[in-house]
Amino acid sequence: MDELHSSKLGTLEFWDQRYEEEKNSFQTHGDPGEIWFGEESAERVINWLSNNGIPKNSYILDVGCGNGMFLIELAREGFSQLFGVDYSQGAIDLAKSIADKQEFSSIYYSVENILEGLRGIYDIIHDKGTYDAISQSENPKQNRELYLNSVFNSLRSDGYFIITSCNWTQSELDEQFSIKFNTFKVIPTPQFKFGGSVGSLITTIVYKKKIIE
Ligand SMILES: C[S@@+](CC[C@H](N)C(=O)[O-])C[C@H]1O[C@@H](n2cnc3c(N)ncnc32)[C@H](O)[C@@H]1O
Repeated sequence: MDELHSSKLGTLEFWDQRYEEEKNSFQTHGDPGEIWFGEESAERVINWLSNNGIPKNSYILDVGCGNGMFLIELAREGFSQLFGVDYSQGAIDLAKSIADKQEFSSIYYSVENILEGLRGIYDIIHDKGTYDAISQSENPKQNRELYLNSVFNSLRSDGYFIITSCNWTQSELDEQFSIKFNTFKVIPTPQFKFGGSVGSLITTIVYKKKIIE
């Protein structure tokens, strides 16, 4: 499996600068900034959580939460124990401002670099676009491994890890995560057909931890 080429999306400088701009835009126009992969991609995951008996008081972490809009939508659905981490201070400032304005100030946000390990233990860990960014960093193979260990160590043994990616296919993600996770469910995403084969522009997969002796 080939690694992705490194790009500015894999650097903290890029995200810091971007969230400075988004913070200004939120203060001036009330615009929360980009919804990565569109609102429907978050809706698909939230529907899956709601329709599969996930208790509303589950501890849910969004890794690389950005502006925190995924957590806001979960709060609207009645989920109550919500946590967001991002390594960009600007993202966390923006997410806090949006949550305060929308009166969801009980969402807990903190600056954490997932590659240095995560602080809490969670029932659900969610990622939309963060593993993609990490896969474009300078040392992608090493960083993907650090990411995998962080998620594994911070997830309860019966928890779910849910990832949405636009850079990796289902089989590539399965190959990368299969050392520590079993595929539990592939959440269907819009498909396109090209030259007789069917593919997806984004992939969303629910994983469960493997029991490692
Ligand atoms: C493509 S954006 C997605 C943001 C958000 N998940 C969403 O769906 O709107 C990737 C996010 O990952 C964050 N990120 C990248 N590497 C990270 C790391 N090592 N630790 C924590 N956050 C990271 C970036 O700051 C950025 O907010």
